[in-house]
Amino acid sequence: MWSERGTDSNRVPPVRHPCAGRLIRRHPLNDEKDQERITMFNRRTVLAGAASLGLTLSACGKDSEGGSLDSTEGATVGVAMPTRSSERWLTDGKSVVEDLKARRYKTKLVYGDDDPKAQVSQIEKLIQQGVDALIIAAIDNRSLNGVLQQAAAADIPVISYDRLILGTKNVDYYVSFDNEMVGMIQAHYIVDKLGLEDGKGPFNIELFAGSPDDNNTKYFFDGSMTHLQRFLDNRQLVVRSGETELKQITTPRWDGPTAQRRMSDILGKWYRGERLDAVLSPYDGISRGVLSALKSAGYGSDIEPLPVITGQDAELESVKSIIAGQQSQTVYKDVRRLAEAATTMVDDILKDRVPYVDDSRSYKNGVKAVPAVLLQPTSVDKTNYDILVSDGYFTAAELK
Ligand code: GAL
Repeated sequence: MWSERGTDSNRVPPVRHPCAGRLIRRHPLNDEKDQERITMFNRRTVLAGAASLGLTLSACGKDSEGGSLDSTEGATVGVAMPTRSSERWLTDGKSVVEDLKARRYKTKLVYGDDDPKAQVSQIEKLIQQGVDALIIAAIDNRSLNGVLQQAAAADIPVISYDRLILGTKNVDYYVSFDNEMVGMIQAHYIVDKLGLEDGKGPFNIELFAGSPDDNNTKYFFDGSMTHLQRFLDNRQLVVRSGETELKQITTPRWDGPTAQRRMSDILGKWYRGERLDAVLSPYDGISRGVLSALKSAGYGSDIEPLPVITGQDAELESVKSIIAGQQSQTVYKDVRRLAEAATTMVDDILKDRVPYVDDSRSYKNGVKAVPAVLLQPTSVDKTNYDILVSDGYFTAAELK
């Protein structure tokens, strides 16, 4: 079982769907099959209903090994990823495609290059090309409502990958990591390294958050605040810029240079003659931007050591920076396992099995609770980065 989390009493076990309803061969919109399609069994509705009720659907037929009579041979899965500018999303795209190919699916992988409108057009095109399922990591979690209506009309199931798509009923499942835990891990690292539990301080800290249009941003921030808030309240931690509200600290598109500019401004305004002791950063790309600003301002020497700086995604450049004693920490999320979770889900759906989920209540997208599979993240710093090698995430040579 690929999921490690099993605490939700509402979890739905992997129920094999015995109903061998014909594999719905989907076709581009407006073709002659349209009329036929609207009378077909609607897999989306039936699966969603079964998942929420924890039901097994009635049997319609099986082969002698208990497998579905239908084959997914020739089925195509559309995969829409957000950007090529970050290493992790390249790994995600590659892993999803490899896993789908291993399951004998055809794939169409597109990258939206951080442009929400371009992503909408790409998904529209995938729908017109007749893909059988969609795996989508949204750029702007609220921009997909219209295009997902088209997916629903074409009976294409949609998996929200890593980032929860908001404001639409037309998203069937969500696969991600425990994002609140990610934020907690980052904050806990700062608490631990500064010795805040032992009463040390006051220390200066600055806070950075992710893109305002990414639903994960709030989870990371809220998770971090569960650990940091009491030290802000008792002034063991001081934010000299005064920027503590989420809307003040977000970084559009998770962009490193944007974070670098904000860090430089803050250092110039608030840290002349003051030392910055810690930076809460939610993502390695932001951490590297922050590091550049700090180095330009003279941090990184024996006299002025770098502050504690967190991160996320275990990107190669950041892991090397951790080994070199610059960035302090990252959160390792093995996106190969995320890809596996998503492709297992697609395979289940297209083979008319009800997918396994960990949590069918908590991940509300404003319209519905989206049944979710959540993997666990791991803190990595210079004391344990070798797990990246033992996991095969990087080779030892890559980390040299
Ligand atoms: C988030 C994701 C993070 C990080 C960030 C920037 O949605 O959960 O792991 O990758 O995007 O790409």
